[in-house]
Amino acid sequence: MFPYKNSITIDRKNNRPIYLQLCDQIISFIRAGKLPPSTKLPGSRRLADILGIHRKTMVAAFDELIAQGWIVSIPSKGTFINSELPIISPVNLNSSFDAKSKKQLSGFDFFHNTYIDDTDLSLENDFYLIGDGVPDNRLAPIDEIAKTYRNISKKEYHKKLLGYSSIYGNKELRKTLVTYLNQSRGLDITIDNILITRGSQMGLYLSSQLLLQQGKTIVVGATNYSTADNTFEYSNGKIERIKVDQNGLNTQQLEMICKKKQVDAVYVTSHHHHPTTVTLSAERRMHLLLLAEKYCFAIIEDDYDYDFHYENSPILPLASNDYHGNVIYIGAFSKIIAPAMRIGYLVAPKDFILEAAKLRRIIDRQGDTLLEETLATMIKVGDVQRHCNKVIKIYKQRRDLFCKLLKDKLSDYLSFDIPNGGMAIWVNLDKKYNWEPISVEAKKRKLYISDWKRYDMINSGHNSIRLGFASFNEIEIPIIIDRLHEAILAATTL
Ligand SMILES: Cc1ncc(COP(=O)(O)O)c(C=O)c1O
Repeated sequence: MFPYKNSITIDRKNNRPIYLQLCDQIISFIRAGKLPPSTKLPGSRRLADILGIHRKTMVAAFDELIAQGWIVSIPSKGTFINSELPIISPVNLNSSFDAKSKKQLSGFDFFHNTYIDDTDLSLENDFYLIGDGVPDNRLAPIDEIAKTYRNISKKEYHKKLLGYSSIYGNKELRKTLVTYLNQSRGLDITIDNILITRGSQMGLYLSSQLLLQQGKTIVVGATNYSTADNTFEYSNGKIERIKVDQNGLNTQQLEMICKKKQVDAVYVTSHHHHPTTVTLSAERRMHLLLLAEKYCFAIIEDDYDYDFHYENSPILPLASNDYHGNVIYIGAFSKIIAPAMRIGYLVAPKDFILEAAKLRRIIDRQGDTLLEETLATMIKVGDVQRHCNKVIKIYKQRRDLFCKLLKDKLSDYLSFDIPNGGMAIWVNLDKKYNWEPISVEAKKRKLYISDWKRYDMINSGHNSIRLGFASFNEIEIPIIIDRLHEAILAATTL
């Protein structure tokens, strides 16, 4: 007989009623083939005795299983597993099968993405995660967001905002962004040129899907934002790399490639090159635009941290000088407000926006209308600009403190240039040393250097990584530098 007593567990502290706990487990045994079709079950009285529960509970479980069609009761014969159920090859009773386990391997074939990291970034409280450069979420204007969200959720908006709506995203936000981007970035766009996305990443994905299918060529920097590389590869694009120096992407080298082969797109983080943080020079900006016009390629301009420029005003994007419809301009509020505010925009010629909207329709019907309306209101009443002005001052101070301590304490091991903007420092470790043991030692000291291997996707051995500074305050920064110092000392004296 099936070992009911050993196989069924009842958790009396669980909120789920006991009769349903019984049903769940009996169903999982049927599904696993452990209780095959037509198996006779013990009577409800006997099974209740075996399991040490009240008979009424057992009867309730049987009734539920009968109602769901898992078992049948045949008068004067007994209760059986439904003989109509498909026969499943039985799983060994002692096997590690666990219906609740989420770690089972799929019983079907599908695409495996080997390059996206799935590290859980939620570390214990006393751990510091030092990485790519992210905002300090503690500074996010959460009260303003909550207040505005609550106000716009009130009655009169219900009909307007809670239904299915435009595949281009919330119209009020699109209208607001037209003014915002034209004024702040020197663009000259209308509402037809703008699609709302969930962060810059969706803009990257939509663009690469539309541009790169069928193995089209995209040119990127020798060092590049690795997730952009991943996105292009996922879209079947062929990546060509060009050098990056103090002036950003080397456009002379790009021109040489264009002379030899068809280039379909160029990806550029013009404001602060990711990962090295340098700004694309004015000369190269003009050159890149001229090449795009001449060779008819798209420029994907990822302006992920436009607002964070500390020495002078932010440099206007390439999109502000695009007179021939070559630039696809991507931005978001993930860095200005917080990464969880999944609102971004894709700016491009109208025909491209239409196709991007259709594609987005397939993966995300329309975005988050209420949140988008909230953001539109916050931009209009000046909340976003006020917040931006506040955090720029704070991040500049943090950059200066981080750089000072890095220089004072670690200049024997590493070098760096103070970045003009952004949220991270591009740090070059002396080639005598290696990040691998340092990151191991850092982890022992509760400092987690995230994803550092991904800054060198082509294994060039440049030995440089990004150290994000913006998310740490003036108390945390010295602690972090001390831990890094200790980790380097421990790793280098091994
Ligand atoms: C260069 C670059 N592009 C795009 C993104 C994605 O940003 P989002 O959170 O807006 O999708 C990031 C995120 O860090 C980034 O660094």
